[in-house]
Amino acid sequence: MRIETLFLHNFRNYSRLQLSFDNHLNLFIGANAQGKTNLLEAINFLATGKSHRTRNEEEVVLWGADGCSVAAKVGYLYGEGALKIAYLAAEKKKTYSVNGLTQKKSALSGKLTTVIFTPEDLAIVKGSPSNRRKFLDDEISKVSPVYEDDMNRYQHVLRQRNFLLKTHRKKILDSEELGSWNEQLAPLAAKIVSRRISVIHRLGLLSRLAQRRLTGRTESLDINYLSSFGAEISTDLPELKELFLKKLAEKKEQEARLGQTLIGPHRDDFQIFLNGREARLFASQGQQRSLVLSLKMAELEYIKGETGEFPVLLFDDVFSELDEQRRFALLEAIDGRVQTFITGTEADKMTRTKVPGKMFLVAHGEVK
Ligand SMILES: Nc1ncnc2c1ncn2[C@@H]1O[C@H](COP(=O)(O)OP(=O)(O)OP(=O)(O)O)[C@@H](O)[C@H]1O
Ligand SMILES: [Mg+2]
Repeated sequence: MRIETLFLHNFRNYSRLQLSFDNHLNLFIGANAQGKTNLLEAINFLATGKSHRTRNEEEVVLWGADGCSVAAKVGYLYGEGALKIAYLAAEKKKTYSVNGLTQKKSALSGKLTTVIFTPEDLAIVKGSPSNRRKFLDDEISKVSPVYEDDMNRYQHVLRQRNFLLKTHRKKILDSEELGSWNEQLAPLAAKIVSRRISVIHRLGLLSRLAQRRLTGRTESLDINYLSSFGAEISTDLPELKELFLKKLAEKKEQEARLGQTLIGPHRDDFQIFLNGREARLFASQGQQRSLVLSLKMAELEYIKGETGEFPVLLFDDVFSELDEQRRFALLEAIDGRVQTFITGTEADKMTRTKVPGKMFLVAHGEVK
């Protein structure tokens, strides 16, 4: 898919903006604090319904304005569509529309899909397990609203169960109430973990290929799911559910003492290995960047495989930090297939490419 035209109204430092894009490469060049990241944020906001930079949505509204909107005309392999999200700060309310008709949020699902790479994503390699879980969950949610829904329900049940453990401690251990929360939690945990394991398997294959291509075959990448209840191998739902319930039973004394649920998808992780060693511990800055890049390239292919369309690729700042070999390998990999938006402060590193595209100069909330 590709964004043909983008319309912003009172979003960050843009009061009104309309831009038409190239199908392949779009470069946003400008000094610091001019509005480059704001443009990528707007695109991602339309794709996901939220900002990737803040939980506090009022922040995306132009200072002094009472609301904002982002809209786009999007082209697909077959046909096109018009999408819009409008946000009213006073009511903290968003309205969604597709082809001019107001719709529920779910109607926008899959209509614009993005893969975004920002400097913060280096935390996927070096950061805590929660960074990696978020990457995995976000990625699966992009292609599976069912997964997103299961995840929300799991979090809901988990909160209730934790509340119970915290307030009643030992008294709760043999109650029917805890048993009934376990019965609700287990099938959701099984579904989530099963899906994650199969996605990690696919991503592993795809990112290994990407890493070889990016590094001229000098580096090999492996990833491996780490389950908190020993579920690494099976994706079978009844089996996973039984395993989870069994481990819960084993952990119950400890859980009651600590007042929280100690196993489940909210405690899982995945490991990234570079040439056989754990990247979290040993990868250099540049290697971390290429590992994340390989994961993002794998994500592109994965989404294409699941939905039939390539998502739109957004690169904030990281592109110019890559060395020349990786920049060329990347552009070659996306050439002609993936609409890509890249921000940077200097044009020269980016214009030495053969990929056709447009360059936009960004200054003080205006784009030329
Ligand atoms: N709600 C808002 N209303 C008006 N201006 C805002 C709002 N939020 C942020 N800004 C301003 O937008 C400007 C540009 O921000 P942006 O993050 O897009 O810069 P950038 O071009 O990506 O810079 P850098 O190269 O440093 O990353 C900043 O000066 C910031 O103060
Ligand atoms: Mg920026």
